[in-house]
Amino acid sequence: MKTLETERLLLRLWSMQDADDLYEYAKNPNVGPNAGWEPHKDKEFSRNIIKMFIEDEVWAIEYKENNKVIGSIGLHEDRKRIRINGKMLGYVLSEDYWGKGLMTEAASAVIKHGFEEMNLNIISVYHYPFNDKSKRVIEKCGFKYEGTLREATRIFDGRILDDLCYSILKEEYEADKKLG
Ligand SMILES: CC(C)(COP(=O)(O)OP(=O)(O)OC[C@H]1O[C@@H](n2cnc3c(N)ncnc32)[C@H](O)[C@@H]1OP(=O)(O)O)[C@@H](O)C(=O)NCCC(=O)NCCS
Repeated sequence: MKTLETERLLLRLWSMQDADDLYEYAKNPNVGPNAGWEPHKDKEFSRNIIKMFIEDEVWAIEYKENNKVIGSIGLHEDRKRIRINGKMLGYVLSEDYWGKGLMTEAASAVIKHGFEEMNLNIISVYHYPFNDKSKRVIEKCGFKYEGTLREATRIFDGRILDDLCYSILKEEYEADKKLG
């Protein structure tokens, strides 16, 4: 798995030593539920999630200024689009670091990697109706809104939520790149 570097961030492989950093931000009830998952109950839970991240090649987001892991980002299988050359973007950031443009910076690097190194044809991303911050990241990264899949997901607490669906095609990425 390739390490990606941006101005302020290193996107790199997770290690079990990151469990304290992960637990610190993932126990916060303002973080996971916005992405559909339960706040971490204890460090053991965080350690198990790290094992899954390593298996699924999810990047740890390390803040270069203090070498702390402050989030995660990955290109996952899109269960709404099977047997195509595409991936679904997913991401989470520690609340302490919101509003500084960090996720837009990380997501742009991952999108570039997806199209230029992995040769994907499409990258999709989804957010729940109440998640205006994620919506802004998605817009700033140049995704196109496709529509809303109603009652698409049942999350950990039993709520059934709509998915607002977005994607970028490789040709759109290339055209935007030419425009600069
Ligand atoms: C969504 C998330 C990753 C955004 O990360 P971030 O680094 O703060 O993102 P950015 O700073 O690049 O952009 C955030 C945007 O939301 C805006 N924003 C901040 N608070 C907001 C609010 N209460 N309502 C609406 N927009 C808000 C910011 O102003 C910014 O937009 P702008 O550039 O137009 O000013 C982060 O909030 C998070 O991890 N949330 C919890 C998990 C999650 O939702 N994951 C995504 C699941 S789809």
